[in-house]
Amino acid sequence: MHPIDQAGTFTMGGRTVKRMGYGAMQLAGPGVFGPPRDHDAALAVLRAAIAAGVDHIDTSDFYGPHVTNRIIREALSPYPADLVLVTKIGARRGEDASWNPAFSADDLARAIDDNLRHLGLEALDVVNLRAMFSIHGPAEGSLTAPLKALADFQRQGLVRHIGLSNVTATQIAEGRGIAEIVCVQNQYNLAQRDDDALVDSLAADGIAYVPFFPLGGFSPLQSAELSAVATQLDATPMQVALAWLLQRSPNILLIPGTSSVAHLDENLAAASLVLPADAVATLNGIAGASPAH
Ligand SMILES: NC(=O)c1ccc[n+]([C@@H]2O[C@H](COP(=O)([O-])OP(=O)(O)OC[C@H]3O[C@@H](n4cnc5c(N)ncnc54)[C@H](OP(=O)(O)O)[C@@H]3O)[C@@H](O)[C@H]2O)c1
Repeated sequence: MHPIDQAGTFTMGGRTVKRMGYGAMQLAGPGVFGPPRDHDAALAVLRAAIAAGVDHIDTSDFYGPHVTNRIIREALSPYPADLVLVTKIGARRGEDASWNPAFSADDLARAIDDNLRHLGLEALDVVNLRAMFSIHGPAEGSLTAPLKALADFQRQGLVRHIGLSNVTATQIAEGRGIAEIVCVQNQYNLAQRDDDALVDSLAADGIAYVPFFPLGGFSPLQSAELSAVATQLDATPMQVALAWLLQRSPNILLIPGTSSVAHLDENLAAASLVLPADAVATLNGIAGASPAH
């Protein structure tokens, strides 16, 4: 029994994971490009996450590129049997660190192969297709062709489960006509609540919602109300932001990112932070009160 178990579990494509997980993107270098400033520190963060009971890690081979997956393999392989590694495909990094769509059949086959090789796996637990019609947020456009390709990889046994990222409700409906969708990974946090209705409809359908930027992303959330609630509860603002997501809906799985063991410990401790009703009411007001994050 680990303290993070207090946040409970959710079953994603037949794999039950703890609702408190870890996102590995911050382990690559600045701008998610190149090697980390401190390689040993990156290994230490991953090992500390596993030691604390984390069984759900989010990654991609386009973090670095290749860097994050290689560090995960070095730190954790042979992997614990209960660890679910979730990766994503659909983008390629340019030499200038740019993020570019990579949706052709060849691009997707290369991405599956790269993820398998760099993680040292024979099959990928969950693969999210990351829509790239707009890099900044969900935008309409058909995902049928790349999803059919991903479903083929699933039939070949290279991919166990399929998810979608940076998508609209229309694209999720389109995707569910092609393959079973076990999770959706979109931007969502205390201040960015565009997906409120989607979170609830996915919960009703038993699909995990995995918010990226749960702490606000590259510039973590800052708000006077958040700080006040944190002070009142003797917690940190980041812990309150995570606890708010946990109480928001039972299908929300957390993958906060950090490159530091101290921040990891702080974030994982949010699993046991219970927010009283008046704190939730105050926090619910943040999205309405602040400009779009
Ligand atoms: N599907 C997608 O398009 C997509 C996009 C972005 C991210 N993701 C995934 O989502 C995961 C989470 O997103 P994210 O890592 O970008 O953003 P995040 O979890 O919202 O926040 C990470 C940022 O917060 C800082 N931080 C973490 N814990 C902290 C703490 N306790 N106190 C103060 N600062 C703290 C980190 O810096 P330190 O390193 O200094 O702690 C980092 O700058 C990623 O790791 C990745 O796996 C997916």
